[in-house]
Amino acid sequence: MAIELKEHALVQHYITILRNKETKAELFRKASVAVTRILMVEAARSLSLETVSVSTPLEETQGAKLSGGLVVVPILRAGLGMLETALKILPNAAVGFVGLERDEATAIASCYYAKLPPLNTASHVFVIDPMLATGGSAVQTITSLKAKGVQRLTMVSIISAPEGVAALEAAHPDVEIVTGIVDRELNESKYICPGLGDFGDRLFRTSAASSDQ
Ligand code: PRP
Ligand code: URA
Repeated sequence: MAIELKEHALVQHYITILRNKETKAELFRKASVAVTRILMVEAARSLSLETVSVSTPLEETQGAKLSGGLVVVPILRAGLGMLETALKILPNAAVGFVGLERDEATAIASCYYAKLPPLNTASHVFVIDPMLATGGSAVQTITSLKAKGVQRLTMVSIISAPEGVAALEAAHPDVEIVTGIVDRELNESKYICPGLGDFGDRLFRTSAASSDQ
């Protein structure tokens, strides 16, 4: 089951701004940052801790400190829109990059770039990508991370399709999914509906429709 934060008032507010086709790039970027912050705080809830003792001004008590290496992996391009915010929440995390692009006709993603930091069984990797549509990009990325020994993974997306959640859960049932909302369905072009259109194009102003924004 994906952890869906759609009841959160701020998540609803910022996703509505992202959905609106009239939202211009500057506000789109700000809303992406705001919603990512909330998602990352929720995703970080499951981080591993080790018990430590701490001396307060009054007495010694038990506390906790983060353990294990943290890694953030944005799926390029659109995942870059979440990276800076993810690193504000996990300031010590290493960063890896996976570049994937869906074929416009088939919606099957192919990899054009990968650069990962050293990974091991203690690493907790947060894969960030605003759109989980068919789930192909996420499944491919997570499969390649597991092949490098990673055992703890969290997928963080802003909007998901039920088909993408189901595909990721089927391929990697151990991976936690944190998402702003699970939308209704994919259309015949494998876009999420109601969705927000092409996140990468809106973020980076690469569609004709965004040229005057
Ligand atoms: C988008 C999005 C995801 C992917 C999701 O990327 O950012 O990476 O599609 O779709 P899937 O779940 O069906 O794989 P796109 O291929 O458009 O590339 P971009 O980020 O460079 O725009
Ligand atoms: N990628 C996007 O940017 N939007 C979708 O709806 C699906 C994939």
